[in-house]
Amino acid sequence: MSGVVLDGKRISREIQDELRPRITALRAQGKQPGLAVVLVGDNPASQIYVRNKIRACEDLGIRSVEFMPPGNISTDELIALLKPLQDDASVHGILVQMPLPKQIDSERVVAEVVDAGRDVDGFGTHSLGLLVRNKPGPRACTPAGIMEMLRRYQIPIAGKHAVIVGRSDIVGKPMALLLLHQNATVTICHSRTANLAEECRRADILVAAIGHAGLITRDHIKPGAVVIDVGMNRLTDKAQVERLFAHDPQRLASFGKNGSVLTGDVEPLAMQELSSYYTPVPGGVGPLTIAMLMSNTVGLAEGSIWRD
Ligand code: GUN
Repeated sequence: MSGVVLDGKRISREIQDELRPRITALRAQGKQPGLAVVLVGDNPASQIYVRNKIRACEDLGIRSVEFMPPGNISTDELIALLKPLQDDASVHGILVQMPLPKQIDSERVVAEVVDAGRDVDGFGTHSLGLLVRNKPGPRACTPAGIMEMLRRYQIPIAGKHAVIVGRSDIVGKPMALLLLHQNATVTICHSRTANLAEECRRADILVAAIGHAGLITRDHIKPGAVVIDVGMNRLTDKAQVERLFAHDPQRLASFGKNGSVLTGDVEPLAMQELSSYYTPVPGGVGPLTIAMLMSNTVGLAEGSIWRD
């Protein structure tokens, strides 16, 4: 058996194309959607993510304003810098790229700056409360994108056993709730789970969001499972790359040229061979996160996804 590729790039384009007429309608009312993008310091991965987010805004006609303070800024200084955005009627969403440098209290930043109607990432306490209660509100972009993908490929969820590996506030926890609201039976696994492979093998839908290359192997996948790989790991270790991509001469050649390769949390060959559907890395979940960020920005500008 060989799984069907879930094409994140195609679904991302579809979602963004559906936003265009809504953005046109907003602009006709003089209400161009606006997103503030905040990148603290110079984390290279974050720089790439932020660049892609700004590009997506430009392509759709969403206004973006950038804040790029130095990595040694304090929590108080960052909050003081961003606070005026709360009174800026042209900014509908505030995106603070995570992770923030260690000295910054990210909970305070989200609570004091973002969580008052501009929570485009769905990270704030208010948004999380709306999610738990299954009320309209901005949802964390990566899990929301995965739900869109499952819906558009008509993959059934109700009554299925979904296993999520990873319990982060950004992916694991909101993912569990979104699947629960679609009537999946949900298990959340994490670093202290006693027998990870056994739990994962019970999954009809397996979501890997750990940030550990190749942790999910053949032993973890029930034949025919839908496998969603959220991991984005940049590998530079030759032996590891050769083990994970022994079947893929193109990737090995690309590693030879660039000295690194991007891979998920699931062993690529195991996922391809055992799953019914799977998300490749890159080109699976990544593009959906950006599409849902754009969708949340438009929803906040319309006032269609936020209720106090
Ligand atoms: N870091 C990794 N994923 C995300 C995301 O969806 N939003 C933000 N703000 N930071 C992230």
